Amino acid sequence: MNYAEIPSPCYVLDEGLLKKNLRLIDDVRKRANVEIILAFKGFAMWSAFPILNAHGFRCATASSLSEARLAVEEMGDFAHTYSPIYTDNDIDEIAALSSHLTFNSLSQFERFSKRAKAANKAISLGLRVNPEFSEVETDLYNPCAKGSRLGITSEHLKFLPDGVEGLHFHALCESDSHDLKKVLDNFELRFGALLPQIKWLNMGGGHLMTRKNYDVEYLITLLKDFQNKYPHLKLILEPGSAFAWETGVLVSTVEDIVENHGQKTAILDVSFTAHMPDCLEMPYKPKILSALSETNTDFPTYRIGGNSCLAGDFMGEWSFEKPLQIGDRIVFNDMIHYTMVKTTMFNGVKHPSIGIWREHTGFELVREFVYEDYKNRLS
Ligand SMILES: Cc1ncc(COP(=O)(O)O)c(C=O)c1O
Repeated sequence: MNYAEIPSPCYVLDEGLLKKNLRLIDDVRKRANVEIILAFKGFAMWSAFPILNAHGFRCATASSLSEARLAVEEMGDFAHTYSPIYTDNDIDEIAALSSHLTFNSLSQFERFSKRAKAANKAISLGLRVNPEFSEVETDLYNPCAKGSRLGITSEHLKFLPDGVEGLHFHALCESDSHDLKKVLDNFELRFGALLPQIKWLNMGGGHLMTRKNYDVEYLITLLKDFQNKYPHLKLILEPGSAFAWETGVLVSTVEDIVENHGQKTAILDVSFTAHMPDCLEMPYKPKILSALSETNTDFPTYRIGGNSCLAGDFMGEWSFEKPLQIGDRIVFNDMIHYTMVKTTMFNGVKHPSIGIWREHTGFELVREFVYEDYKNRLS
């Protein structure tokens, strides 16, 4: 990518890197004989969906009416939908847009399953269960933390109500296949007796199969073994991050450098809280392409600050070979998943544009954001 050609600020998806991930995921689904669908909550850049379609990915998992519509309108297939709640206002439309609909609780199933069937006779209904085991250490991302509202625990699910055809669990986050093995063991222990009664099992997301050192062969073996044990089950995985993992960048620019008690901060034309919220929430320190791999105060070292007024809109520190100058490009790596889908227009700061770096033709600007985008979210 030639960053000088790219307007700042801008998220840029690298088409070649996305295709590389798609080839790997395609290989896994074929060899393991499972369905792997994209979780829109992690990546919903619909201008890139033709690339997914070309690799045979048409199906997505939705967590709301809007995502279910996007699945039908832009990916080209009915959604596998799971949402913590459905409401009187959205259940009929969601059901009409979904091939699979998973309920988070028995009370939601009782309240809405008949209406879902009436809206879409072909729909297959499921329940989300909570395996009460997860290796995820950050509670914000741990659906199995004690007291979690997500999924029915085995204590409350001794038998399946009529009409339930599938089960769903989600207990991983940026995890390895060996973590999945532990979750599967716990799931089987708690819910194994119900498996003969269902047709499909959705193992949720968090399978980061495109990360370096992920044990892909073990994933395939694990899924095949499970399939051999329960040959009547259709297995489904719904990762989000794995599709868009390390497929692009956020290009930004240094607009000022300020100093307070010896603390230097380079302020950019992007914001951590508005444009890279996971950095603050997880938290994790993103990689800046021009920075040294480790902070080293023998080199010019800076906090990097965002352009919102939030006092905590900064991270740091990063060291650079040379002192930063106003106008320098700062390029954050791996900024495609859980960024565009989570951004806000807090403070009215300019939303980064969205672009694609095409394999053969280079940069293509897909979308710029303007004052009306900010205004139309308010009234
Ligand atoms: C129910 C469910 N499915 C799938 C996913 C996608 O997970 P990931 O993007 O980590 O693969 C999530 C993420 O929170 C989720 O809650």
